[in-house]
Amino acid sequence: MCVQRVLGTNQQQQSHFSMKLKEELLRRRTFAVISHPDAGKTTLTEKLLLFGGAIQTAGAVKSNKITKTATSDFMEIEKQRGISVATSVMGFEYKSIKINLLDTPGHKDFAEDTYRTLTAVDSVILVIDAANGVEAQTERLMEVCRMRDTPVIVFINKMDREGKDPFDLLDELETKLSIKVQPLSWPINMGNRFKGVYNILRRQLNLFSPNKTGISDDLRSFSDLQDPALDVELGERDAAQLREDLDLILGVYDPFSVERYLSGALAPVFFGSAVNNFGVQELLDSFIELAPTPRGRESTEGFVESQNESFSGFIFKIHANLDPRHRDRIAFLRIVSGTFNRHEFYTHVRQQKQMRFSNPTSFMAQDKEIIDQAFPGDVIGLYDSGNFKIGDTLTSGGSYYYKGIPSFSPEIFKELINLDPLKSKQLEKGIEQLTDEGVAQLFRLQPGNRKVIGTVGELQFEVIQYRLEHEYKAACRFQAMAFHKACWMTTDQPSRLQEFLRRKADNIGLDKDNNPVFLAPSGFLLNMARQDYPEIVFHTTSDFKSVVS
Ligand code: G4P
Repeated sequence: MCVQRVLGTNQQQQSHFSMKLKEELLRRRTFAVISHPDAGKTTLTEKLLLFGGAIQTAGAVKSNKITKTATSDFMEIEKQRGISVATSVMGFEYKSIKINLLDTPGHKDFAEDTYRTLTAVDSVILVIDAANGVEAQTERLMEVCRMRDTPVIVFINKMDREGKDPFDLLDELETKLSIKVQPLSWPINMGNRFKGVYNILRRQLNLFSPNKTGISDDLRSFSDLQDPALDVELGERDAAQLREDLDLILGVYDPFSVERYLSGALAPVFFGSAVNNFGVQELLDSFIELAPTPRGRESTEGFVESQNESFSGFIFKIHANLDPRHRDRIAFLRIVSGTFNRHEFYTHVRQQKQMRFSNPTSFMAQDKEIIDQAFPGDVIGLYDSGNFKIGDTLTSGGSYYYKGIPSFSPEIFKELINLDPLKSKQLEKGIEQLTDEGVAQLFRLQPGNRKVIGTVGELQFEVIQYRLEHEYKAACRFQAMAFHKACWMTTDQPSRLQEFLRRKADNIGLDKDNNPVFLAPSGFLLNMARQDYPEIVFHTTSDFKSVVS
């Protein structure tokens, strides 16, 4: 009798926990805002936070944006990166939905940081400048989104300025980004004559007024577009143009399919002006309605559902402490499944080590606070004294790890040269830790163990040199190396791969996991290698499932 009662209580508790997990899961949305620099990512982020009540005034958040002047002022970059720790993850509540907005650096030299952050989100909002359309960085970011079928919502910004024709913009999005798009709102003019947008799904007119101080949109319902009141609101000419445009749109597009959006095949498009607070509420309301709840992830032992009750998560970012006297770092953990509890023991799968965390932090706009529990979709900060590498998995027992934090081929390669033989240990340790943090990639050339550092931008070399000197007291210089791409290789004929590795020994480096990597001297020689060794597949990302080479 007594035992039964205890069992009953345990079961009740269990189902209480699963209910709570499910509830928390359903009310979370984890996403990133991405854009080519200057399209308006920072402005939009800030406006979203204003709506979420996470900040009170515009300008309160210094986003991860690294300003243009910073390229020549290294300390400024570090300071900005320091500030950006607090705003790397911005959590806020909007209409009872817990939104986790992950910031990504705008500077192209930190593109790899952005790619990794994209592995930790469930969807993205892509900001496009209406005048510039699709730009170089937009294309690359979208390639990464497509690799993982991440659902995308497009926000065409700066409608208060003269820009490209909206139909042309839609075409450009489809052709340059290889994704189907569908407008869910439609602009009425642009620039000086911009009057607002019509929301196609909600059948609402959203009227624009420049320099609006309030944050809410000015909405009028128009379920019947023939309503003469529309002519009064917009003037006859603009009302007629809107009717004509919408006729065309409704004729061309099928009814909007949320499933196609969720599978990453279709991107809904909204128009607005972030700096004028215009269209932001519409975007946010649509976002919480459409965007996916936290999704599971593919692991080495199959797909782990987010509703799975046993806890798991992965590290996608590591940020060094800026104070050189404290070597500890903050590791950013994305929770994939189950509930994370403070003080509980978890398995660090790579090191097969039990760890528990007494000060896990959540990030709410400018503040960091210690949390007791966190749920799938959440990102928490763990203080780390050097145990974590990017891509590490924590579980409550399982010994699987998450795939899909790929390394991308760097674009600039330089040899790291030690300037002080007495400090080679410090240099070795420093470069290892910096590459664990993902500042750059390290390849060791064999034989001789020469160290090749690969990065996306020049800026990282400055970062590495400065940090090695200040945090590890090691002096170095870099010598340019004429490599074009780093290629990971797969084959079903190991003997041919062995032959290739032997023949190209001077161009083979070992990556952080000791995988051989072909450091191709030029595009031409990479193509030659592909022709000569058709049995070998050369990948420019270490995530072999999704090749973008
Ligand atoms: P980013 O993070 O994508 O790099 O872009 P950011 O938000 O910093 O915006 C880049 C510039 O575009 C900023 O101007 C910003 O004010 C402006 N902007 C953003 N949204 C709109 C919009 O809807 N309409 C117009 N006309 N401009 C917009 P800036 O002069 O570079 O900086 P600031 O001095 O205004 O901060």
